[in-house]
Formats: sequence, C-alpha cells, structure tokens
Amino acid sequence: MEKIILTGDRPTGRLHVGHYVGSLKERVRLQNSGLYDKIFIMIADAQALTDNAEHPEKVRENILEVALDYLGCGIDPEKSTIFIQSMIPELTELTFYYMNLVTVSRVQRNPTVKSEIQMRNFEASIPVGFFCYPISQAADITAFQATDVPAGEDQMPMLEQCKEIVHKFNTVYGDTLTEPEIVLPDNSACLRLPGIDGKAKMSKSLGNCIYLSDEPDEIKRKIMSMFTDPNHLAVSDPGTVEGNPVFTYLDAFCRTEYFSGYLPEYHDLDELKDHYRRGGLGDVKIKKFLNNVIQSELAPIRERRRMWEKRIPEVCEILRHGSETAQMAAARTLHDVRAAMRINYFEDTSWVENHIRGAI
Ligand code: TRP
Repeated sequence: MEKIILTGDRPTGRLHVGHYVGSLKERVRLQNSGLYDKIFIMIADAQALTDNAEHPEKVRENILEVALDYLGCGIDPEKSTIFIQSMIPELTELTFYYMNLVTVSRVQRNPTVKSEIQMRNFEASIPVGFFCYPISQAADITAFQATDVPAGEDQMPMLEQCKEIVHKFNTVYGDTLTEPEIVLPDNSACLRLPGIDGKAKMSKSLGNCIYLSDEPDEIKRKIMSMFTDPNHLAVSDPGTVEGNPVFTYLDAFCRTEYFSGYLPEYHDLDELKDHYRRGGLGDVKIKKFLNNVIQSELAPIRERRRMWEKRIPEVCEILRHGSETAQMAAARTLHDVRAAMRINYFEDTSWVENHIRGAI
C-alpha cells in the first residue's frame, strides 16, 4: 500500500510556535524521511469559512501567510503538494455523500466540536456548515487515500470520526476508502504548547502566541514577559518546573548542545531543572536561556520565509500547481466512490439495460 500524508491548517492567521512543535516540525521530518509516496498539505480555507462566513477577507488574506509559514519551515514544494482546499470541488461532493453516514448526535458528541461551539458562543445557533466540518475533514483525508495525518493532539477526535466514516462507507458500499492514522509528536511538551501567559493553549484570540514570523526583538519581549511559577518570588525560593511554561518550552525546543553555547554552567536540562527546584536560580536567567534557544530555532525559519516573501508570484504558482495536482488525485477517489455507490450512471449503464430488458 502506498504511504500518503494529508494534513492542513485553517488560514485564519499566521502560524505560531505551537503549530510548529505540534505538527509542522513533524511534517518536515516525515517529508524528508523519504518514506512517503505522496504528501499533500492543505490550506483549509473552506473549513475556515465555516466560522468566518462574514469575513472571507480574513481567510483570503491569510492564505499566503500560511503558505509562507509552510515554506519557511521547510515544506519543500518539490516533495510536498501544497494546495488550497476550496479549489478542489470534489471535496464538497464527497462531504455530501458522507453526511448520510453520520448522525447528528455523533457530531454533537465530538469533543473538538463541543469545545469550539462553546468558545465561539455558538450554543444557541450553530451554522450547519460549521457543524458538518468534521465530515468535510473526513472528505479531505479520504480524498487523498491518506494513510498518515500529522496533526496536533486537538485533531484526535476528528481522526476518530473520519475512521468511523471510512468503516461505514466500506461496510455499506464495499472496500473503497483508506483508514488513516494520526501522527503525533512523541515529545509530550510538543503536544500542547501553553501560551506565554501560561494558559493551556497558544491561540491567536488569547493574544499569547509567539509567531514564526515574529522579529527577534518581539520574540525576546514575549519571552521575558512569560508567566512562570507564581510562587517563585525570590531567586533563593524553590521553584516548580511542572506546568511552568518556561520549562515546557525548554522541553519542547531545547537541544543539549545549546548548553555549551549559552549556559555552560549546566550540562543538560535535568541539571537546570534540579537547580530551579532547589532554589537559587532566577527566572530572568532561564528566560534569557530560553530566548537564545528559541531565537536559534526560529532564525532559519524566518530567514527562509523572508526569502519567499520576495517571490510571491512564485508562491502563488506553487499553490496553483499544487491545487491542480491535488484536484486530479481527489477526482480519482471520487470516481471510485461513485462507482462503489453505483451512482456512476453513464459509466455503468446496466440500470438502463435492465430497464429495457424488463420492458420487453
Ligand atoms: N482542522 C484543522 C485545523 O483546525 C485543519 C484541517 C482541515 C485538517 N482538514 C484537515 C487537518 C485534514 C488535518 C487533516 O487547523
């Protein structure tokens, strides 16, 4: 069986370091592993419209931002097909057929949908399109017969729902669709990076993000203002490492070689954590170290992004070409889906012939 990746992001803003450690870094690693036959990376504009219907300009303006973030991270258009969701009408048609295989109560139980409804105050009036987005996401994944979906932990319920749809489709209409697996980072600090304010999630609406495209002084300002252990008042006080966002970021980003360059008094992160727990290690010192680590990790991404920012027509061409390639792949699956459902009327005309035979 071919190994195929499909994943994507909603273009509602620039991507941040939470996206990076949670999924983008993994995608680049998988892309460069040479283990995959095809890789599709989707800018999910149609999904973004499910809760931004009145602000299409917000979605449109962020398509290039997300494409630049991808290219900056090292997604290579020679190896990965980057495309725009709404340019592939086959996805909409698949969604429409899959809708019949899912119940309203099943979507209502989807934990991601539940929490998003709460976050957006949709309780009283949920747009139907928004409600159906897990089904459309199953169409995105299956249209490319994806075997692997590198995505953040928050996408797990979406993958579960997708697998159920695949199972149901294959049971009712015969084996046609591929069951996908989510690929999560194995470093638990990367699964859900907190915001710089210590809130559980980095999110644009909370204003607690470090963006991949932030300038060095902006990054430094954000890191120096980070929330730490609120009970660690004096340098001599013992501090808590667990749940302290500075240490979570170090767990996510720090490589041991950074110690010799930036903090040679310590050998590794364990030693630094021990000192913090004992007391005698100040927040300013660990923040300065974290700043050096993050600056080192983000500088090459930002520079590559800047390089692509000067070549916007080329970026647009990458998206156009990627969308064409993706459309052809989705059309092949839709063809198989229609055949399995026996709604490929003018290809298999047995229904006409049976009718004529019956009439004679
Ligand atoms: N739901 C994802 C997000 O919020 C975007 C997305 C749409 C996606 N379709 C997908 C992710 C398919 C993985 C696979 O960013």
